[in-house]
Amino acid sequence: MNGPGRQPGRRAVRHQVVIRAAIAVAGFAAYAGAVWLSPMGTRVGAPPEGVRAWRAAGCQSCHALFGLGGHLGPDLTFVVTRRPEGFVDVMMRSPPEGMPSFAGLSDAERAAIVDYLRAVDAAAREAPKSWFTGGGSGR
Ligand code: HEC
Repeated sequence: MNGPGRQPGRRAVRHQVVIRAAIAVAGFAAYAGAVWLSPMGTRVGAPPEGVRAWRAAGCQSCHALFGLGGHLGPDLTFVVTRRPEGFVDVMMRSPPEGMPSFAGLSDAERAAIVDYLRAVDAAAREAPKSWFTGGGSGR
């Protein structure tokens, strides 16, 4: 009869473990969701096919935009003004060391990704106050 007496205590401990694990999982999900959704897609006024192509290709697993995303490759927030016209397209077709080739994407998909990066760059250059006073784009 000592079994049932000890069960509630053990159950309480298990309960605590489950609650803490759930908090950790929820926290990670919130972070991952933020990286996935915002501000990369929803706020930059980018064409939706560009956002989709960028995500489907998995660029964000190695490249950050606005500091969010992977860091194996450089942050690409300002890549279209940092680099000459056509540079991003060339990188996708003949990538540098450490980056897979995206030569298998269609011309339209690569163009959509470049358009997206152009919109990201433009959004990142907007005066910060315009995001909060109703004057910003993509809201
Ligand atoms: C597996 C990781 C990985 C993925 C996925 C990836 N890249 Fe890269 N990319 C890199 C690395 C690493 C570099 C830097 C190589 C170097 O500088 O030597 C790079 C460099 C670049 C550069 C050059 C940036 C500069 O200013 O020098 C561009 C542009 C670029 N990637 C675009 C993309 C795009 C667009 C996608 C998605 C279609 C993509 N990358 C997906 C790893 C990746």
